[in-house]
Amino acid sequence: MLTRTIGNRRNVSALCLGAMNFGASTDPETATKILDRFVEAGGTFIDTANNYGQWHGQPGRSEEFLGNWMRERGNRDQLTVATKVGARSTVPGDPGDEHWEGLGAETIENAVKQSLERLRVERIDLYYAHIDDRRTPLEQTVGALGSLAKEGLVDVIGCSNTTSWRLERARQLATDQGVARYEVIQQRHTYLWASPLAQGAERRLGSRHFPHATTEHFDYLEEHRDVTLVAYAPLVEGSYARPERPFRAERGYAHPTAYVRFEELRKVANELGATPNQVVLAWMLQKDPAVIPLFGASSVDQLDEALAAVDLDIDEETIERLDQA
Ligand SMILES: NC(=O)c1ccc[n+]([C@@H]2O[C@H](COP(=O)([O-])OP(=O)(O)OC[C@H]3O[C@@H](n4cnc5c(N)ncnc54)[C@H](OP(=O)(O)O)[C@@H]3O)[C@@H](O)[C@H]2O)c1
Repeated sequence: MLTRTIGNRRNVSALCLGAMNFGASTDPETATKILDRFVEAGGTFIDTANNYGQWHGQPGRSEEFLGNWMRERGNRDQLTVATKVGARSTVPGDPGDEHWEGLGAETIENAVKQSLERLRVERIDLYYAHIDDRRTPLEQTVGALGSLAKEGLVDVIGCSNTTSWRLERARQLATDQGVARYEVIQQRHTYLWASPLAQGAERRLGSRHFPHATTEHFDYLEEHRDVTLVAYAPLVEGSYARPERPFRAERGYAHPTAYVRFEELRKVANELGATPNQVVLAWMLQKDPAVIPLFGASSVDQLDEALAAVDLDIDEETIERLDQA
């Protein structure tokens, strides 16, 4: 499969597979088939978090499932597995965001040990701050993650659900402290632009939650080629493929401009004999600076559909049409 470089040193597949539901709502047998097929197709980049599974009463289930699968397959060294800290609930059975663990130094030190154990690895390849915890001084979070990199417990570090100005501030604070800087940012991103009103509409951890990639992020990425965007939920959680699953207002996509863009997407998909999902992934893969789509699949058929996007070549004129819609 096509590859990308993250952190100026790790080669990863250009598609990243989300393991959020694996072992929980995606049953172990199906999840195993999906993972095996992804690897067989050349996939090497897999995403999880220390809280995945908590909506099903099993926080850490996804990490644990991946850890066991890698041990059984003996393929750990061929993979880049990303995990995250910050959004795990401190109250068993209540995943509400008011209970999130946050990004204090002690929390990070404990969380990384538990993730290493569940994943059954010596080092985490890519470790993200899952959220922007504004209750904790940013220098503390940056220092704690930087120390983990110094100790060799994590390789590349990154952040998620973070504005571009906070990303830049974190990187400056890391430079001041002489520790590793964030080199990956993971944001919600698809072919549709989110309404600006959706940005920061959700209040979390005493602050606002900024999940989407914005034009400011792209401006930042153009000037900072050592930072890579990983785009989560590029398939809008199935809304392109399922008419019965409309765009959700709380995700910021239920507005007139989004529908105009969706119409153009459908036209292009028809012309190319592809599905809208495939066009979105292929469009992203052709972007400069690089964007790594991080998608989910709950069946091997869904996975195969996404994998085929790697071979879908969209000419420049059509890319321009998609961009301008
Ligand atoms: N950093 C963060 O805060 C954050 C937040 C959310 C997610 N993530 C990461 O992003 C990954 C992907 O998230 P996601 O799964 O929500 O996003 P997604 O890729 O937008 O959606 C995937 C879902 O779309 C549906 N789908 C895909 N192809 C389909 C088809 N051909 N027909 C019908 N339905 C289809 C499936 O839903 P069904 O399963 O219902 O069939 C599938 O599970 C997660 O696993 C996680 O690793 C990160």
